[in-house]
Amino acid sequence: MERMKTVVVGCGGMSRTWVQEALAAERIDLVGLVDLEAERARAMADSFGIDQGACFRSLGEAVRATGADAVFDVTVPAAHAAVTLEALELGCHVLGEKPMSDSLENGRRMVDAAQAAGRVYAVTQTRRALPGVLSVEAFLREGGLGEVAELHSDFYLGCHFGGFREEMEHPLVLDMAIHTFDNARQISGREPVTVYAESWNPAHSWYRGDASAVAVFEMTGGLRYTYRGSWCNEGNHTSWAGDWRVAGSRGSLAWDGADAMEAQRLAADPGEGFHRELETIDVPRVTLEHEGHAHLIRQFAEHVCSGGRTPLACPAADNLPSLAMVLAAVESLRTGNRVPVRW
Ligand SMILES: NC(=O)c1ccc[n+]([C@@H]2O[C@H](COP(=O)([O-])OP(=O)(O)OC[C@H]3O[C@@H](n4cnc5c(N)ncnc54)[C@H](O)[C@@H]3O)[C@@H](O)[C@H]2O)c1
Repeated sequence: MERMKTVVVGCGGMSRTWVQEALAAERIDLVGLVDLEAERARAMADSFGIDQGACFRSLGEAVRATGADAVFDVTVPAAHAAVTLEALELGCHVLGEKPMSDSLENGRRMVDAAQAAGRVYAVTQTRRALPGVLSVEAFLREGGLGEVAELHSDFYLGCHFGGFREEMEHPLVLDMAIHTFDNARQISGREPVTVYAESWNPAHSWYRGDASAVAVFEMTGGLRYTYRGSWCNEGNHTSWAGDWRVAGSRGSLAWDGADAMEAQRLAADPGEGFHRELETIDVPRVTLEHEGHAHLIRQFAEHVCSGGRTPLACPAADNLPSLAMVLAAVESLRTGNRVPVRW
C-alpha cells in the first residue's frame, strides 16, 4: 500500500494535532472526519480547508463512503472501546489515543479483536517517542549504570484545564500518570508487580478530585519505581515528561525530562574513600526527525503500508501493563492496600 486512507474520529481539542499530522504525513490520505456533534467535524474541516463532504456523523458511514484503511480514534476514553471495536469490525487498522480504554477488560477485548481481525492496533503513548527518553532507555539497556535498582520520577505542574479533568475523582493518576508509568517500563525494561499509592487534594486545589499523589511500584527483578506528582503545583514546574533519577549498581543518572541529562559512574579505580571516585559520563543522544504524535502517527502509517516490516513503538498489547499500573494505583488509593498489578 502506498498511502493509507484514514478517518479521524473525534474532533475535539486533541484532534487538531492528529489532523495536522495526518495532512503532513507522506503515507496518509485524510479522507474523513467524524464526530457525534456534527458541528465539531465541520469546524475542524473548515479550519484546515478540508471539503465539508469529508464530514460524517458515524464511523460506519465514513468508512463505507471512503473505503478507509485506517481509523484514528481521538474520542474520549469511555468511547475508545466501542470506536476501536467497530473500526476493526469494519476491517480497519486503528491508532488510538491514550488511555486505550477505561477498563482492563475492554483493553483485552480490543487487543484480542485486532488479533482476530488481523489488523494493526496501536496506542499513541506519546512520551515513548521523545529523544531524551529514548537516550536514557538505550544507555541503560547497554549497561551504562550497571544493574538498574531504582527509578524515581517527579511530575509537578499547575494546569488550569477547565472541563472534565476538574471534575474527575483522580485527575492526575487517571488522566496523566499513564505517560510517566509507561516511561518507567520503557526506561527500565521491567514490568510492574505491585503498587501502593496515596493521593490528596491540597486546600488550594481547583480540582474536585485528588490533584496530588505518590505511588511506589515494585517492578520485576525487585526494582522499585517511585512516582510523585501534582497537577495543582504553582511554580518550579517540571517538564511534561517529568524529572527523573535512575540509580544503578555502578552509578546514577538525572534527567529533567527535556534536554538536561547528567550521568556519573564509578571510576575504573574508585578507591576506598568515604565517597568513591566517580567519573562523569556523556550519555549518547538519540535524535528524531519528529517527536511525540508526529513521530508515532508517521511510524504507524509506515508500519501499515509496509505490511508490518517497519517498527511500531506502541502496539496496543504492550500498553496493557501501563493501563494496569494506573488502574491498580487507583485501587490502592481507594482501598489503602498494596495491590498486585495484573493485566
Ligand atoms: N497524548 C496527549 O498528550 C493527550 C493530550 C490530551 C488529550 N489526550 C487524549 O485524547 C483523547 C481526546 O481528548 P480531547 O481533549 O480531545 O477530548 P474532547 O472532549 O475535547 O474531544 C473528544 C471528541 O470526541 C467526540 N466523541 C466522543 N465520543 C464519540 C464517538 N463515539 N464517536 C465520534 N465522536 C465522539 C466528542 O464529541 C468530542 O468532540 C482522550 O483520550 C485524551 O486522554 C492525549
